Amino acid sequence: MGILQRLVGSYLVVIVTTVIILEAFLIAAVNYYYNYNIEQILTSQAELSASFYEQYFAGGNLEQQAEKLLKGFSHHSAAQVQIISSSGQLMQDSTGLQTENSMLEYRDVRLAASRGQPETWRGYDPIAEEEVLAVSYPLQDAGHSIGVVRFVTSLAGTKETVRQISVLLISIGLIVIGLVAVVGILLSRTITGSITGLKQTAEKMAEGDFTARAQKRYRDEFGALADTLNTMAVKIQEQDQLKNEFISSVSHELRSPLTSIKGWVITLKSGLLTGKATIQDGLEIIESETDRLTRLVDELLDFSKFEDGRMVLNYTAFQSADFLQNIGKQLRPRAARQGITLQVQAGDSLPVIKADESRLKQVMINLLDNALKFTEPGGTIVITARLAGEQFIITVEDSGAGIAEQDVPKLFQKFYKGNHSMSGSGLGLSISEQIIKLHKGDISIDSRLGKGTKVTIFLPRSEEL
Ligand SMILES: Nc1ncnc2c1ncn2[C@@H]1O[C@H](COP(=O)(O)OP(=O)(O)O)[C@@H](O)[C@H]1O
Ligand SMILES: [Mg+2]
Repeated sequence: MGILQRLVGSYLVVIVTTVIILEAFLIAAVNYYYNYNIEQILTSQAELSASFYEQYFAGGNLEQQAEKLLKGFSHHSAAQVQIISSSGQLMQDSTGLQTENSMLEYRDVRLAASRGQPETWRGYDPIAEEEVLAVSYPLQDAGHSIGVVRFVTSLAGTKETVRQISVLLISIGLIVIGLVAVVGILLSRTITGSITGLKQTAEKMAEGDFTARAQKRYRDEFGALADTLNTMAVKIQEQDQLKNEFISSVSHELRSPLTSIKGWVITLKSGLLTGKATIQDGLEIIESETDRLTRLVDELLDFSKFEDGRMVLNYTAFQSADFLQNIGKQLRPRAARQGITLQVQAGDSLPVIKADESRLKQVMINLLDNALKFTEPGGTIVITARLAGEQFIITVEDSGAGIAEQDVPKLFQKFYKGNHSMSGSGLGLSISEQIIKLHKGDISIDSRLGKGTKVTIFLPRSEEL
Protein backbone atom coordinates (compact mmCIF):
# COMPACT_ATOMS: atom_id res chain seq x y z
CA MET A 1 0.00 0.00 0.00
CA GLY A 2 1.38 3.38 -0.98
CA ILE A 3 1.85 6.31 1.36
CA LEU A 4 -1.04 8.22 -0.30
CA GLN A 5 -3.48 5.40 0.43
CA ARG A 6 -2.18 5.01 3.96
CA LEU A 7 -2.46 8.73 4.73
CA VAL A 8 -5.91 9.15 3.20
CA GLY A 9 -6.98 5.87 4.82
CA SER A 10 -5.99 7.06 8.27
CA TYR A 11 -7.66 10.46 7.74
CA LEU A 12 -10.84 8.66 6.74
CA VAL A 13 -10.79 6.20 9.62
CA VAL A 14 -10.49 9.08 12.07
CA ILE A 15 -13.16 11.26 10.50
CA VAL A 16 -15.64 8.42 9.87
CA THR A 17 -15.35 7.27 13.47
CA THR A 18 -15.78 10.82 14.73
CA VAL A 19 -18.77 11.48 12.49
CA ILE A 20 -20.47 8.20 13.44
CA ILE A 21 -20.04 8.80 17.17
CA LEU A 22 -21.14 12.43 16.91
CA GLU A 23 -24.18 11.67 14.73
CA ALA A 24 -25.30 8.76 16.88
CA PHE A 25 -25.17 11.06 19.87
CA LEU A 26 -26.97 13.94 18.09
CA ILE A 27 -29.72 11.73 16.67
CA ALA A 28 -30.27 10.11 20.07
CA ALA A 29 -30.42 13.56 21.65
CA VAL A 30 -32.90 14.92 19.10
CA ASN A 31 -35.05 11.81 19.49
CA TYR A 32 -35.02 12.12 23.25
CA TYR A 33 -35.73 15.85 23.16
CA TYR A 34 -38.81 15.50 20.93
CA ASN A 35 -40.24 12.59 22.85
CA TYR A 36 -39.58 14.14 26.21
CA ASN A 37 -41.16 17.39 25.09
CA ILE A 38 -44.33 15.82 23.83
CA GLU A 39 -44.60 13.74 26.98
CA GLN A 40 -44.21 16.86 29.10
CA ILE A 41 -46.96 18.65 27.19
CA LEU A 42 -49.38 15.75 27.46
CA THR A 43 -48.59 15.23 31.14
CA SER A 44 -49.12 18.85 32.06
CA GLN A 45 -52.38 19.02 30.10
CA ALA A 46 -53.63 15.85 31.75
CA GLU A 47 -52.58 17.09 35.16
CA LEU A 48 -54.27 20.42 34.59
CA SER A 49 -57.45 18.70 33.48
CA ALA A 50 -57.44 16.37 36.46
CA SER A 51 -56.97 19.15 38.96
CA PHE A 52 -59.55 21.26 37.17
CA TYR A 53 -62.00 18.40 37.54
CA GLU A 54 -61.18 17.99 41.22
CA GLN A 55 -61.76 21.64 41.93
CA TYR A 56 -64.87 22.37 39.99
CA PHE A 57 -66.67 19.17 39.13
CA ALA A 58 -66.04 16.80 42.01
CA GLY A 59 -69.16 15.48 43.71
CA GLY A 60 -71.24 15.23 40.52
CA ASN A 61 -71.98 12.27 38.32
CA LEU A 62 -69.06 11.65 36.01
CA GLU A 63 -71.14 10.07 33.30
CA GLN A 64 -73.40 13.12 33.07
CA GLN A 65 -70.58 15.61 33.24
CA ALA A 66 -68.41 13.74 30.80
CA GLU A 67 -69.44 15.54 27.63
CA LYS A 68 -69.04 18.99 29.15
CA LEU A 69 -65.73 18.02 30.65
CA LEU A 70 -64.44 16.73 27.36
CA LYS A 71 -65.25 19.98 25.64
CA GLY A 72 -63.34 21.91 28.29
CA PHE A 73 -60.39 19.55 28.31
CA SER A 74 -59.94 19.22 24.56
CA HIS A 75 -60.44 22.89 23.90
CA HIS A 76 -56.80 23.81 24.36
CA SER A 77 -55.21 20.57 23.23
CA ALA A 78 -54.47 19.13 19.84
CA ALA A 79 -54.32 15.70 21.45
CA GLN A 80 -57.05 13.11 21.52
CA VAL A 81 -58.82 13.36 24.88
CA GLN A 82 -60.70 10.47 26.44
CA ILE A 83 -62.75 10.25 29.60
CA ILE A 84 -62.93 6.76 30.97
CA SER A 85 -64.86 5.40 33.93
CA SER A 86 -63.03 3.55 36.65
CA SER A 87 -64.46 0.31 35.30
CA GLY A 88 -62.73 0.98 32.02
CA GLN A 89 -65.69 2.09 29.91
CA LEU A 90 -64.88 4.81 27.34
CA MET A 91 -67.45 7.51 28.10
CA GLN A 92 -66.26 10.34 25.86
CA ASP A 93 -63.65 10.65 23.12
CA SER A 94 -62.71 13.91 21.39
CA THR A 95 -62.34 12.10 18.06
CA GLY A 96 -65.80 10.61 18.41
CA LEU A 97 -64.47 7.11 18.85
CA GLN A 98 -66.85 4.66 20.46
CA THR A 99 -65.90 1.23 21.66
CA GLU A 100 -67.37 -1.44 23.86
CA ASN A 101 -63.90 -2.85 24.58
CA SER A 102 -62.62 -2.23 28.08
CA MET A 103 -60.08 0.56 28.14
CA LEU A 104 -58.40 -1.24 31.05
CA GLU A 105 -56.56 -3.23 28.42
CA TYR A 106 -54.28 -0.20 28.09
CA ARG A 107 -51.64 -0.35 30.72
CA ASP A 108 -51.74 3.38 31.50
CA VAL A 109 -55.51 3.36 31.99
CA ARG A 110 -55.37 0.23 34.10
CA LEU A 111 -52.71 1.60 36.43
CA ALA A 112 -54.23 5.08 36.72
CA ALA A 113 -57.65 3.59 37.53
CA SER A 114 -56.42 1.04 40.03
CA ARG A 115 -53.65 2.94 41.79
CA GLY A 116 -54.97 6.47 41.45
CA GLN A 117 -51.61 7.57 40.00
CA PRO A 118 -50.80 9.21 36.68
CA GLU A 119 -49.28 6.86 34.13
CA THR A 120 -47.62 7.22 30.75
CA TRP A 121 -47.61 4.61 28.04
CA ARG A 122 -45.96 4.43 24.68
CA GLY A 123 -46.83 1.72 22.26
CA TYR A 124 -48.74 0.47 19.26
CA ASP A 125 -52.44 1.26 19.38
CA PRO A 126 -54.40 -1.37 17.35
CA ILE A 127 -57.38 0.96 16.97
CA ALA A 128 -55.43 3.91 15.64
CA GLU A 129 -53.05 1.50 13.89
CA GLU A 130 -49.99 3.53 14.81
CA GLU A 131 -47.57 4.21 17.60
CA VAL A 132 -48.98 6.51 20.24
CA LEU A 133 -48.09 8.21 23.45
CA ALA A 134 -50.79 8.17 26.12
CA VAL A 135 -50.96 9.87 29.53
CA SER A 136 -53.69 8.80 31.93
CA TYR A 137 -54.59 10.86 35.00
CA PRO A 138 -56.99 9.71 37.65
CA LEU A 139 -60.06 11.88 38.29
CA GLN A 140 -60.38 12.14 42.05
CA ASP A 141 -63.45 12.77 44.08
CA ALA A 142 -62.80 13.15 47.78
CA GLY A 143 -59.72 10.99 47.57
CA HIS A 144 -61.42 8.27 45.48
CA SER A 145 -60.54 7.54 41.95
CA ILE A 146 -63.79 7.71 39.98
CA GLY A 147 -62.41 7.74 36.48
CA VAL A 148 -59.53 8.55 34.21
CA VAL A 149 -58.79 11.38 31.82
CA ARG A 150 -56.53 10.22 29.03
CA PHE A 151 -54.57 12.31 26.56
CA VAL A 152 -53.35 10.41 23.50
CA THR A 153 -51.20 11.63 20.67
CA SER A 154 -49.78 9.95 17.62
CA LEU A 155 -46.00 9.65 17.56
CA ALA A 156 -45.92 9.54 13.77
CA GLY A 157 -45.27 13.29 13.46
CA THR A 158 -42.46 13.19 15.98
CA LYS A 159 -40.97 10.16 14.30
CA GLU A 160 -41.10 11.87 10.95
CA THR A 161 -39.46 15.03 12.32
CA VAL A 162 -36.73 13.00 13.99
CA ARG A 163 -36.26 11.05 10.76
CA GLN A 164 -35.89 14.27 8.73
CA ILE A 165 -33.42 15.75 11.17
CA SER A 166 -31.48 12.47 11.12
CA VAL A 167 -31.36 12.49 7.32
CA LEU A 168 -30.08 16.07 7.43
CA LEU A 169 -27.45 15.21 10.02
CA ILE A 170 -26.31 12.13 8.11
CA SER A 171 -26.07 14.14 4.87
CA ILE A 172 -23.95 16.77 6.60
CA GLY A 173 -21.80 13.96 7.99
CA LEU A 174 -21.33 12.46 4.53
CA ILE A 175 -20.43 15.86 3.08
CA VAL A 176 -17.86 16.36 5.86
CA ILE A 177 -16.38 12.93 5.17
CA GLY A 178 -16.25 13.72 1.45
CA LEU A 179 -14.57 17.08 2.07
CA VAL A 180 -12.02 15.55 4.40
CA ALA A 181 -11.28 12.83 1.85
CA VAL A 182 -10.67 15.44 -0.88
CA VAL A 183 -8.57 17.69 1.38
CA GLY A 184 -6.75 14.60 2.64
CA ILE A 185 -5.90 13.49 -0.87
CA LEU A 186 -4.66 16.98 -1.80
CA LEU A 187 -2.57 17.26 1.36
CA SER A 188 -1.16 13.79 0.98
CA ARG A 189 -0.28 14.57 -2.64
CA THR A 190 2.01 17.36 -1.47
CA ILE A 191 3.81 14.81 0.69
CA THR A 192 3.89 11.96 -1.80
CA GLY A 193 4.86 14.42 -4.53
CA SER A 194 8.01 15.29 -2.60
CA ILE A 195 8.72 11.62 -1.93
CA THR A 196 8.20 10.61 -5.54
CA GLY A 197 10.57 13.34 -6.71
CA LEU A 198 13.18 12.30 -4.16
CA LYS A 199 12.79 8.66 -5.08
CA GLN A 200 13.29 9.36 -8.78
CA THR A 201 16.41 11.42 -8.09
CA ALA A 202 17.80 8.77 -5.74
CA GLU A 203 17.17 6.12 -8.40
CA LYS A 204 19.05 8.17 -10.99
CA MET A 205 21.94 8.56 -8.55
CA ALA A 206 21.87 4.85 -7.82
CA GLU A 207 22.31 4.29 -11.55
CA GLY A 208 25.40 6.49 -11.42
CA ASP A 209 23.97 9.76 -12.73
CA PHE A 210 25.29 12.25 -10.20
CA THR A 211 24.30 15.24 -12.28
CA ALA A 212 20.70 14.55 -11.18
CA ARG A 213 19.44 17.00 -8.55
CA ALA A 214 16.48 16.60 -6.20
CA GLN A 215 13.95 19.41 -6.35
CA LYS A 216 13.31 21.10 -3.01
CA ARG A 217 9.56 21.79 -2.82
CA TYR A 218 9.07 22.77 0.82
CA ARG A 219 11.27 23.72 3.73
CA ASP A 220 10.36 20.56 5.62
CA GLU A 221 12.05 17.23 6.34
CA PHE A 222 11.74 16.26 2.69
CA GLY A 223 13.33 19.55 1.68
CA ALA A 224 16.21 18.78 4.05
CA LEU A 225 16.47 15.31 2.55
CA ALA A 226 16.62 16.83 -0.96
CA ASP A 227 19.45 19.11 0.20
CA THR A 228 21.31 16.17 1.72
CA LEU A 229 20.89 14.14 -1.45
CA ASN A 230 22.19 17.02 -3.56
CA THR A 231 25.15 17.64 -1.27
CA MET A 232 25.95 13.95 -1.44
CA ALA A 233 25.88 14.03 -5.24
CA VAL A 234 28.16 17.08 -5.33
CA LYS A 235 30.59 15.34 -2.97
CA ILE A 236 30.60 12.20 -5.07
CA GLN A 237 31.21 14.26 -8.21
CA GLU A 238 34.10 16.02 -6.49
CA GLN A 239 35.50 12.68 -5.36
CA ASP A 240 35.20 11.37 -8.89
CA GLN A 241 37.05 14.35 -10.21
CA LEU A 242 39.76 14.00 -7.55
CA LYS A 243 40.14 10.35 -8.45
CA ASN A 244 40.52 11.19 -12.13
CA GLU A 245 43.08 13.87 -11.33
CA PHE A 246 44.88 11.40 -9.08
CA ILE A 247 45.01 8.78 -11.81
CA SER A 248 46.31 11.25 -14.37
CA SER A 249 48.95 12.54 -11.91
CA VAL A 250 50.03 8.99 -11.12
CA SER A 251 50.25 8.13 -14.82
CA HIS A 252 52.29 11.25 -15.38
CA GLU A 253 54.62 10.37 -12.49
CA LEU A 254 55.08 6.85 -13.82
CA ARG A 255 55.71 8.01 -17.35
CA SER A 256 58.87 10.09 -16.84
CA PRO A 257 61.02 7.40 -15.15
CA LEU A 258 59.70 4.83 -17.62
CA THR A 259 60.61 7.05 -20.57
CA SER A 260 64.07 7.57 -19.21
CA ILE A 261 64.56 3.83 -18.50
CA LYS A 262 63.27 2.90 -21.96
CA GLY A 263 65.55 5.43 -23.63
CA TRP A 264 68.63 4.05 -21.90
CA VAL A 265 67.64 0.44 -22.55
CA ILE A 266 67.30 1.18 -26.30
CA THR A 267 70.64 2.95 -26.34
CA LEU A 268 72.38 0.13 -24.46
CA LYS A 269 70.71 -2.53 -26.65
CA SER A 270 71.85 -0.86 -29.88
CA GLY A 271 75.46 -1.65 -28.89
CA LEU A 272 76.57 1.71 -30.22
CA LEU A 273 77.89 2.81 -26.85
CA THR A 274 81.54 2.10 -26.57
CA GLY A 275 82.85 3.79 -23.44
CA LYS A 276 82.58 1.65 -20.34
CA ALA A 277 81.92 4.75 -18.27
CA THR A 278 78.97 5.76 -20.45
CA ILE A 279 77.45 2.29 -20.11
CA GLN A 280 77.95 2.56 -16.36
CA ASP A 281 76.21 5.98 -16.35
CA GLY A 282 73.24 4.55 -18.23
CA LEU A 283 72.89 1.63 -15.86
CA GLU A 284 73.06 3.97 -12.86
CA ILE A 285 70.30 6.13 -14.27
CA ILE A 286 68.20 3.04 -14.90
CA GLU A 287 68.84 1.94 -11.31
CA SER A 288 67.91 5.29 -9.78
CA GLU A 289 64.82 5.62 -11.97
CA THR A 290 63.77 2.12 -10.92
CA ASP A 291 64.24 3.17 -7.29
CA ARG A 292 62.07 6.21 -7.96
CA LEU A 293 59.38 3.99 -9.41
CA THR A 294 59.55 1.64 -6.44
CA ARG A 295 59.29 4.56 -4.02
CA LEU A 296 56.34 5.97 -5.93
CA VAL A 297 54.56 2.62 -5.88
CA ASP A 298 55.20 2.31 -2.13
CA GLU A 299 53.76 5.78 -1.57
CA LEU A 300 50.72 4.94 -3.67
CA LEU A 301 50.19 1.78 -1.66
CA ASP A 302 50.35 3.87 1.52
CA PHE A 303 47.67 6.13 0.08
CA SER A 304 45.35 3.29 -0.71
CA LYS A 305 45.83 2.11 2.87
CA PHE A 306 44.85 5.55 4.18
CA GLU A 307 41.83 5.69 1.91
CA ASP A 308 40.21 2.45 3.00
CA GLY A 309 41.34 2.59 6.62
CA ARG A 310 43.83 -0.26 6.36
CA MET A 311 46.60 1.98 7.70
CA VAL A 312 46.70 0.79 11.30
CA LEU A 313 49.23 2.25 13.68
CA ASN A 314 51.38 -0.12 15.62
CA TYR A 315 52.00 1.81 18.86
CA THR A 316 55.10 1.08 20.92
CA ALA A 317 56.82 3.02 23.67
CA PHE A 318 60.32 4.15 22.84
CA GLN A 319 62.93 6.66 23.92
CA SER A 320 62.41 9.78 21.80
CA ALA A 321 66.00 11.03 22.13
CA ASP A 322 67.45 7.73 20.87
CA PHE A 323 64.94 7.69 18.05
CA LEU A 324 65.96 11.16 16.82
CA GLN A 325 69.70 10.52 17.28
CA ASN A 326 69.44 7.34 15.19
CA ILE A 327 67.73 9.21 12.37
CA GLY A 328 70.47 11.82 12.51
CA LYS A 329 73.11 9.10 12.32
CA GLN A 330 71.40 7.54 9.33
CA LEU A 331 71.26 10.77 7.30
CA ARG A 332 74.49 12.44 8.33
CA PRO A 333 76.60 10.71 5.61
CA ARG A 334 74.26 12.11 2.94
CA ALA A 335 74.29 15.56 4.53
CA ALA A 336 78.09 15.42 4.66
CA ARG A 337 78.23 14.47 0.99
CA GLN A 338 76.09 17.53 0.20
CA GLY A 339 78.17 19.75 2.45
CA ILE A 340 75.29 20.35 4.86
CA THR A 341 75.53 20.32 8.65
CA LEU A 342 72.90 18.15 10.32
CA GLN A 343 72.35 18.77 14.05
CA VAL A 344 70.13 16.82 16.40
CA GLN A 345 69.29 18.72 19.60
CA ALA A 346 67.73 15.93 21.59
CA GLY A 347 69.01 15.46 25.11
CA ASP A 348 68.54 12.44 27.39
CA SER A 349 65.96 14.37 29.41
CA LEU A 350 63.42 13.79 26.63
CA PRO A 351 60.61 11.42 27.55
CA VAL A 352 59.64 8.00 26.38
CA ILE A 353 56.86 8.46 23.84
CA LYS A 354 54.23 6.16 22.47
CA ALA A 355 53.80 6.13 18.71
CA ASP A 356 54.20 3.95 15.62
CA GLU A 357 57.98 4.12 15.48
CA SER A 358 58.47 3.06 11.86
CA ARG A 359 55.70 5.39 10.57
CA LEU A 360 57.11 8.28 12.58
CA LYS A 361 60.52 7.49 11.14
CA GLN A 362 58.98 7.57 7.66
CA VAL A 363 57.72 11.10 8.41
CA MET A 364 61.14 12.24 9.71
CA ILE A 365 62.93 10.78 6.68
CA ASN A 366 60.44 12.58 4.38
CA LEU A 367 61.03 15.91 6.12
CA LEU A 368 64.81 15.48 6.17
CA ASP A 369 64.81 14.35 2.56
CA ASN A 370 63.01 17.59 1.66
CA ALA A 371 65.37 19.67 3.79
CA LEU A 372 68.39 18.03 2.16
CA LYS A 373 66.94 18.38 -1.34
CA PHE A 374 66.10 22.04 -1.00
CA THR A 375 69.18 23.25 0.90
CA GLU A 376 72.37 24.38 -0.80
CA PRO A 377 75.83 23.15 0.26
CA GLY A 378 77.02 25.03 3.33
CA GLY A 379 73.55 25.16 4.82
CA THR A 380 72.37 23.67 8.08
CA ILE A 381 69.54 21.43 9.19
CA VAL A 382 68.53 21.33 12.85
CA ILE A 383 66.27 18.78 14.49
CA THR A 384 64.89 19.74 17.91
CA ALA A 385 62.47 18.07 20.31
CA ARG A 386 60.77 19.20 23.51
CA LEU A 387 57.86 18.50 25.74
CA ALA A 388 55.22 21.23 26.11
CA GLY A 389 52.39 20.30 28.43
CA GLU A 390 50.66 17.30 26.95
CA GLN A 391 52.38 17.71 23.60
CA PHE A 392 55.62 16.32 22.30
CA ILE A 393 56.98 18.73 19.70
CA ILE A 394 59.57 17.91 17.03
CA THR A 395 60.91 20.54 14.61
CA VAL A 396 62.98 20.17 11.45
CA GLU A 397 64.47 23.47 10.36
CA ASP A 398 66.62 24.12 7.31
CA SER A 399 68.38 27.15 5.89
CA GLY A 400 67.37 26.23 2.35
CA ALA A 401 65.35 27.57 -0.54
CA GLY A 402 62.12 28.17 1.39
CA ILE A 403 58.66 28.35 -0.10
CA ALA A 404 56.67 31.37 -1.24
CA GLU A 405 54.03 32.33 1.32
CA GLN A 406 51.10 31.76 -1.04
CA ASP A 407 52.31 28.22 -1.78
CA VAL A 408 52.58 27.07 1.84
CA PRO A 409 48.92 25.98 2.14
CA LYS A 410 49.30 23.79 -0.96
CA LEU A 411 52.24 21.79 0.37
CA PHE A 412 50.12 19.04 1.92
CA GLN A 413 48.15 18.45 -1.28
CA LYS A 414 48.84 15.23 -3.13
CA PHE A 415 51.26 15.69 -6.05
CA TYR A 416 51.99 19.31 -5.17
CA LYS A 417 55.62 19.91 -5.95
CA GLY A 418 56.45 23.57 -6.41
CA ASN A 419 58.71 24.33 -9.35
CA HIS A 420 62.04 23.39 -7.89
CA SER A 421 64.21 21.14 -10.03
CA MET A 422 64.77 18.80 -7.07
CA SER A 423 61.09 18.15 -6.51
CA GLY A 424 59.97 14.51 -6.54
CA SER A 425 56.45 13.08 -6.85
CA GLY A 426 54.92 15.58 -4.41
CA LEU A 427 53.45 12.86 -2.21
CA GLY A 428 55.87 12.95 0.73
CA LEU A 429 54.32 15.78 2.78
CA SER A 430 50.81 14.58 2.05
CA ILE A 431 51.62 11.11 3.41
CA SER A 432 53.47 12.61 6.38
CA GLU A 433 50.43 14.70 7.27
CA GLN A 434 48.15 11.68 7.13
CA ILE A 435 50.45 9.67 9.40
CA ILE A 436 50.61 12.49 11.97
CA LYS A 437 46.82 12.98 11.81
CA LEU A 438 46.39 9.25 12.41
CA HIS A 439 48.43 9.78 15.59
CA LYS A 440 45.88 12.49 16.50
CA GLY A 441 48.66 15.02 16.14
CA ASP A 442 49.29 17.98 13.86
CA ILE A 443 51.93 19.20 11.45
CA SER A 444 52.58 22.74 10.26
CA ILE A 445 55.08 24.51 8.03
CA ASP A 446 56.67 27.94 8.40
CA SER A 447 58.75 29.09 5.51
CA ARG A 448 60.34 32.13 3.99
CA LEU A 449 61.50 32.17 0.39
CA GLY A 450 65.27 32.13 0.24
CA LYS A 451 65.62 31.97 4.05
CA GLY A 452 64.59 28.46 4.99
CA THR A 453 61.79 26.26 6.19
CA LYS A 454 60.65 25.01 9.58
CA VAL A 455 58.35 22.03 9.91
CA THR A 456 56.78 21.41 13.32
CA ILE A 457 55.17 18.16 14.43
CA PHE A 458 52.85 18.11 17.44
CA LEU A 459 52.23 14.69 18.95
CA PRO A 460 49.86 14.10 21.86
CA ARG A 461 51.53 12.30 24.74
CA SER A 462 49.69 9.11 25.35
CA GLU A 463 48.11 9.08 28.81
CA GLU A 464 49.15 5.54 29.54
CA LEU A 465 52.78 6.62 29.85
N1 LIG B 1 62.17 22.05 3.23
C1 LIG B 1 61.66 22.54 2.09
N2 LIG B 1 62.20 23.65 1.51
C2 LIG B 1 61.68 24.13 0.37
N3 LIG B 1 60.65 23.59 -0.30
C3 LIG B 1 60.07 22.47 0.22
C4 LIG B 1 60.53 21.92 1.44
N4 LIG B 1 59.77 20.84 1.71
C5 LIG B 1 58.87 20.74 0.72
N5 LIG B 1 59.05 21.72 -0.19
C6 LIG B 1 58.22 21.93 -1.38
O1 LIG B 1 57.05 21.19 -1.25
C7 LIG B 1 56.89 20.29 -2.31
C8 LIG B 1 56.23 19.01 -1.85
O2 LIG B 1 57.03 18.27 -0.99
P1 LIG B 1 56.78 16.74 -0.87
O3 LIG B 1 55.36 16.53 -0.64
O4 LIG B 1 57.73 16.18 0.12
O5 LIG B 1 57.09 16.20 -2.33
P2 LIG B 1 58.46 15.91 -3.03
O6 LIG B 1 59.52 15.89 -1.97
O7 LIG B 1 58.25 14.61 -3.66
O8 LIG B 1 58.63 17.02 -4.00
C9 LIG B 1 58.29 20.08 -2.81
O9 LIG B 1 58.28 19.70 -4.15
C10 LIG B 1 58.89 21.45 -2.62
O10 LIG B 1 58.52 22.31 -3.71
MG1 LIG C 1 59.43 14.97 -0.15
